[in-house]
Amino acid sequence: MTDLKDIVGQIDQLEPIPPIAGQIMALAEEPDSSLSEIAELILNDPAITANLLKTCNSAYFGLNRKVDSVRDAIGFVGLDHIVRLVMLNSVSKNFNKQSQGYGLGEGELWRHAVTSAHVAKILAGKFGRSRHKHLIYTAALLKDIGKLILGRFVAFSFEEINILVNSKGYSFNDAEKKIIGMNHEEIGAMVGKQWCFSDKLIFIIGHHHLSNETAREDLETSLVYLADIICMMMGVCTGADGLSYRFYGDVLKRMDLTEKDLQAIIAETGENQQKIEHLLNLI
Ligand SMILES: [Fe+2]
Repeated sequence: MTDLKDIVGQIDQLEPIPPIAGQIMALAEEPDSSLSEIAELILNDPAITANLLKTCNSAYFGLNRKVDSVRDAIGFVGLDHIVRLVMLNSVSKNFNKQSQGYGLGEGELWRHAVTSAHVAKILAGKFGRSRHKHLIYTAALLKDIGKLILGRFVAFSFEEINILVNSKGYSFNDAEKKIIGMNHEEIGAMVGKQWCFSDKLIFIIGHHHLSNETAREDLETSLVYLADIICMMMGVCTGADGLSYRFYGDVLKRMDLTEKDLQAIIAETGENQQKIEHLLNLI
């Protein structure tokens, strides 16, 4: 088994997320926060501000005038879009890398992350979770951050993991735990702790494959799980582990979701695929 200290030590190799990203997300979820408070917070990070203005002025938004301030950008594009763009800008450097071990080429983990976040946004809207929509979007975006670290350990032990998955009925994350001593949910949660994410965001990242009952009873975690499942059903950069996770039908029942509803969400995401691709090229 791998020395877990070697794995945990790799967290420092990731590009840290700017602290203002978490603050912006938290502020945007406060019902009484003002737009100027959020704009001011964004202005504290010149790199994020510059990227934000560049994206808002791109053909993606098709605005009929140039925006030249964060306040303007919020006014024209809308706060929800701005918060999502801040999150995308804050994490893209990490996710654009190749993910060895999981059979994902350069940019594929990023495509999966952004599409999952998009699906999670649709699901959050359907379930009236507007109070936590940014948390759900961010959790879906970051759920597999542990793969960035665990990838090379998975690559080293892939054959052993694969035997457990294919011959012993293990899910991929259970096989990771058994062979490596830690799975990508656990190391992802550790990244979240080190980067001072909220307890809820850490919980969702650490349980996004719903490995225990508490997670299956938590609506936000279940929504992120479903977003992942829907991306897998759509075949969006599923990788070597893609179809090797447990499917919990009771989660659908608990949410009163039918297969028809899932098909409708898949169709809606499919219709937006071109926009998602455009966004991926911009960030
Ligand atoms: Fe995962």
